[in-house]
Amino acid sequence: MDIKSMTKNELAEIIAQNRDNPSGELLGAARAERDKNYGKKIFVRGLIEFTNYCKNDCYYCGIRRGNKNAHRYRLTREQISDCCAEGHRLGFNTYVLQGGEDGCFTDKIMCDIIYDIKEKYPECAVTLSIGEKSRESYKAYKDAGADRYLLRHETADNNHYGRLHPPCMSLENRKNCLYTLRELGYQVGAGFMTGSPYQTNETLAEDLLFLKELEPHMVGIGPFIPQHDTPFADERGGTLNLTLTMLALVRLMLPKTLLPSTTALGTIDPNGREKGFDAGANVVMPNLSPVGVRKDYALYDNKICTGD
Ligand code: 5AD
Repeated sequence: MDIKSMTKNELAEIIAQNRDNPSGELLGAARAERDKNYGKKIFVRGLIEFTNYCKNDCYYCGIRRGNKNAHRYRLTREQISDCCAEGHRLGFNTYVLQGGEDGCFTDKIMCDIIYDIKEKYPECAVTLSIGEKSRESYKAYKDAGADRYLLRHETADNNHYGRLHPPCMSLENRKNCLYTLRELGYQVGAGFMTGSPYQTNETLAEDLLFLKELEPHMVGIGPFIPQHDTPFADERGGTLNLTLTMLALVRLMLPKTLLPSTTALGTIDPNGREKGFDAGANVVMPNLSPVGVRKDYALYDNKICTGD
């Protein structure tokens, strides 16, 4: 199975064949590739969801601007610092600062936060996941010490992108952000949801081809899960098997990429995260956010770990 040299049609065919029941051959090949590059080691990244305010209105997302029922919060700098301290105590050496696109966190404030963390924990990596920004902003965060940036492309098909996002957002801008981040020297993460509305085997094949071209350090893949206060409330969610299929195919396409077994995967199946590892994943991102706000970072319904 030489995934790397396949055409879009061939990839779409492999996806069609595996999506409801990924073959042992596919999953085994993905595991072997993971083991060859990383052994059995699982990498841990501590996730801090520091704001759920967002100026965007993505149709799938529970913290979209248009969701008037979302209970909004922002962590203070002190709370963020406490989350890092807890992560450090637990032995984590990467902090992922994730949030909606929240204008209250200006570049100056973000840079101060990054600088503080790097000063306290110089050996740790700081990862940002705060959406689409200008080159100047990305440069400022980098200069303040940020090491990595996660920005899922969501779908690499133009038409599909337009059905998941309002017209003011574009795949072109998303891709430009990813290329800019890479140019600035960030380790970059891209990714997409499986089973999002209007997704097809062909759009998924396009995701694989885009990832091959971008060669990100990380690829975040999780099932789409409907959120009851969004336009996609009544849509069907993505499945475990399709997610495992795509994890395995990305592992084969980009053998050295870091592949998280995501919270969304753990949400749709009690053993989802373990099954993700059996499909070639090798990263887990435990939640370091204060327990009291976790339920409010409700990108989708029934998110796990909100009460822990
Ligand atoms: N289901 C699953 N994943 C979602 N995300 C946003 N909304 C949902 C949902 N309803 C994902 C997006 C985003 C990441 C932070 O969470 O892919 O990039």
